Amino acid sequence: MNEAIPQLLTYDEASLDRAFAAVAEEVRGGTSSLETSEAQEAFRLHWLGRKQGRLKLISEAWLKSAPAEARKPLGIRFNQLKQEIEAALQAPVAAAGAAVVRGIDITLPGTVRQPGIAHPLLETMQEIVRVFHHLGYSTNLGPQVETDFYNFEALNFPQNHPARDTQDTLQIADQGAKPSRDRLLMRTHTSPVQIRTMVAQAPPIRIVIPGKVHRNDAADATHSPIFHQVEGLCVDTNITFSDLKGTLDHAMKALFGSGVKTRFFPSFFPFTEPSADVQISCIFCGGKGCRKCKHSGWIELLGCGMVDPAVFASVTEERRKLGLDDDAYNPDRITGFAFGMGVERIAMIQHGISDIGQFYSGDMRFLEQFA
Ligand code: DAH
Repeated sequence: MNEAIPQLLTYDEASLDRAFAAVAEEVRGGTSSLETSEAQEAFRLHWLGRKQGRLKLISEAWLKSAPAEARKPLGIRFNQLKQEIEAALQAPVAAAGAAVVRGIDITLPGTVRQPGIAHPLLETMQEIVRVFHHLGYSTNLGPQVETDFYNFEALNFPQNHPARDTQDTLQIADQGAKPSRDRLLMRTHTSPVQIRTMVAQAPPIRIVIPGKVHRNDAADATHSPIFHQVEGLCVDTNITFSDLKGTLDHAMKALFGSGVKTRFFPSFFPFTEPSADVQISCIFCGGKGCRKCKHSGWIELLGCGMVDPAVFASVTEERRKLGLDDDAYNPDRITGFAFGMGVERIAMIQHGISDIGQFYSGDMRFLEQFA
């Protein structure tokens, strides 16, 4: 390793550059193996050792015998070389560019990668879906860009009917040339997937439909123009309103605890008859009355009802167009119930969240609370 120092014969700039470049090359060759403190110490001794270090030898061989006018250019290069050697001893990365791992301290904590979590909204949506999976339901999905027919018409919302006002939506541009039933819009609810499912498949049907829906609503603490629903549909022979009540009572107890009570209030939806709003006893005050339940003791949670025969009629008409003239949805033989709930509302009640906007803010301080 300790090669002899080559002799310097000429002192012009080019010769000096060449001589020092060769030594610098030698230095760099040695830095690629500075992985342990022992290797570093050996490198330091080899180059900077006070008696036999190569820098000392170079200084003796080149500087001492140099003519006076060569002292300055020699000195400058000598100092540069020394700095390069010292830098190699400081730098964590070898001159060759390879990463140098200096002594590893295995007692230091490692780099911890934060595991991801499901978003609280998706968590609640899954939870709702799971309750129905346990009852034998399967999952269906449908498009968010929907036709007027599936979103409104087939669900018994006639053109210009005031019930459409409650679900003002966003229309896709340039649809005016199409017949109204084919015009595209952002779906306002997951109910159109009821129709898609029944057109495609004969009873018995037991499905849940989780998904994103859109409305032309201004955002406030409890509204968002984009939100999520879980829809349900059960169609078979002999399905009655008591099946609906039993199923939803069970689902509410599964979601909010076995202590909650349910009650069914008359309501209106064009696609169910009769229709009802389901309320649960207030989970904050146990039904005594508090601010959260506006002192009524009850919280309104979802809509439901028995599938309107007009809906079966629309389904049958569509199936006939597809050549499925099978009487599968004859309302004299077939009945069903449907329900739809807002995921945000349920998640807000579950977690005591008062501002819906938190779900969409992407604020880690909010999200990390669900980790
Ligand atoms: N689609 C209704 C809405 O978004 C909710 C709903 C009510 C769905 C009653 C249903 C139902 O399936 O039976 O307001």
